[in-house]
Amino acid sequence: MAFFSSTKKVKPAKRLTGSVRVPGDKSISHRYAMLAAIAEGPSEVHYFSSSADCRSTLACLEKLGAKIERKDETLTIQGGGLKGLRQPSGRLDAGNSGSTMRMLGGILAGQSFRSVIEGDASLSRRPMERVVEPLALMGARIRTAEGGLPPLEIEGGELRALRYELPVPSAQVKSAVLLAGLYAGGQTEVVEPLPTRDHTEIALEQMGAEIGRHGQTIAVRGPARLEGRKLYVPGDISSAAFFIAAALVVPESNLVIQNAGLNPTRTALLDLLVPLGGRIKVLNVEMINGELLGDLHVESSALEGGEVPPEAVPGLIDELPVLAVLGTQAERGLSFRGAQELRVKETDRIRALAENLRRMGAEVEEFPDGLRVAGKQRLRGAEIESYGDHRIAMAFAVAGLVAEGTTVIHDSGCVDISFPGFFQELARVTE
Ligand code: S3P
Repeated sequence: MAFFSSTKKVKPAKRLTGSVRVPGDKSISHRYAMLAAIAEGPSEVHYFSSSADCRSTLACLEKLGAKIERKDETLTIQGGGLKGLRQPSGRLDAGNSGSTMRMLGGILAGQSFRSVIEGDASLSRRPMERVVEPLALMGARIRTAEGGLPPLEIEGGELRALRYELPVPSAQVKSAVLLAGLYAGGQTEVVEPLPTRDHTEIALEQMGAEIGRHGQTIAVRGPARLEGRKLYVPGDISSAAFFIAAALVVPESNLVIQNAGLNPTRTALLDLLVPLGGRIKVLNVEMINGELLGDLHVESSALEGGEVPPEAVPGLIDELPVLAVLGTQAERGLSFRGAQELRVKETDRIRALAENLRRMGAEVEEFPDGLRVAGKQRLRGAEIESYGDHRIAMAFAVAGLVAEGTTVIHDSGCVDISFPGFFQELARVTE
C-alpha cells in the first residue's frame, strides 16, 4: 500500500533539546467522538488527535449519519442521542484501528439496524471474539469471519444488562461492554482483573451518564442519556513516550513535552522509569474534563534497568516497544513477561522487536510472552522492518539515534496511524 511505503533514515544524535507537542491522545479522541455522536446536542472537541486511526473513527461515525465538522484540531459534532444513528450504506471501515472496531462494536450492538465493520489486512488478523462474546451475551447477534476475525456483522437490538468479568485486561473490551450497557435496561457491570485505561468511564461521567467504580468493578446504568459538551483532549502520552525515551538515552538531552496526558492509568512508563534513574519532572499539572495533563521535562539519564513487574504490563502495553529499545542502553538491560497481548497488536510486536533489535546487533531473548534485552549495548545502524506498525517504526527511530551509522526504517509512513509528522518533530528537536 502506497500509504506505508516510505523509507526514513535516522542518524546518530548529539542531543535532543527544546520543546515538543505531541498529537491529541488517540484513546481519548476515539471516545470523545463516539460519545459526542450519541449524546444529545452539540459537542466541541478541542485538540482532537490528528492520527489516521481517529480519522477512521470519524469516517465510520459520518457513515452512521453523525454530523461532524472538522477545522484543524477542533471538531464540532451534532449528537443525535442514543438512537440517533442510522443504518450505513455499505460497510464501515475501521482501517488499522482496533479501538474503532471494538468500541464502535459496543455502540452498534445497541442499534436497531444491521451493520458490517471491516478493517485493513493487519486489523483483519486481530482477535474480535473478546468483544463478540460479551456483546452476544447482552443479546446482539454478531457474525465474524472464521476464527473470530473481522469483519464483524452486527445485528443490533434490545440489549440486556450484563455482569462481565474480562478474561483479558483490555480497555477496548471494557469500553465496548460499557458502551453497549448505555443501551441496556439496568446496571451493566464489568470486572477487570488489572486496571486498564479509564478514559471511557471518565468521559461517560463528564457527559452525564450514571457510572461508578467499586474496587475492580465498573457499573453503568442504562438506558442512559448523554449530554453534548465542550471537551479538550490532552497530548498523547503514548506518543510522548518516544520522545521521553529518546531524551533519556541520548546524552546531553534536555527536552520539554507540553500538555501530555497524565491520567494515572496511562503513566506507568513514568512510574517505572523514575525509580530506575530517569530524570523526568512533571510540571504545570491541571485537570480538564476529569483528565490530568501537564508538561514533562526530561533529561538524559543513566538508567538502571531490570525486570518490568507483570502487573505493570497492561498499563505499559503501548510503551513496551520503546521500552525494549531503551533497555538496550540501561545498565542491567530490561525484561518483561506476561505480555502475550503484544503478539496480537498491529503486528506481532515481540517478534518485530526481537528481529529488528538483532539486526542492530543487540543481544535479545524472546519468550512466548515477553522479551529480555541485555544492557549497555552498542547498537549498529541497520535496515529495520516496521511491519506496517507505527509503534515499531517510532521505537526504532529512537534506536537509530543511539546507534552507530545510519538506520533505515522501511514502511515508515505507518507512523501516521498515531503520530503524523513524527519524523519532522523528531528532526526539529534533534542535533
Ligand atoms: C486502547 C487500549 C489498548 C491499547 C490500544 C488503545 C484503548 O488495547 O493497546 O492502543 O484506547 O482502549 P487493549 O484494550 O486491546 O489492551
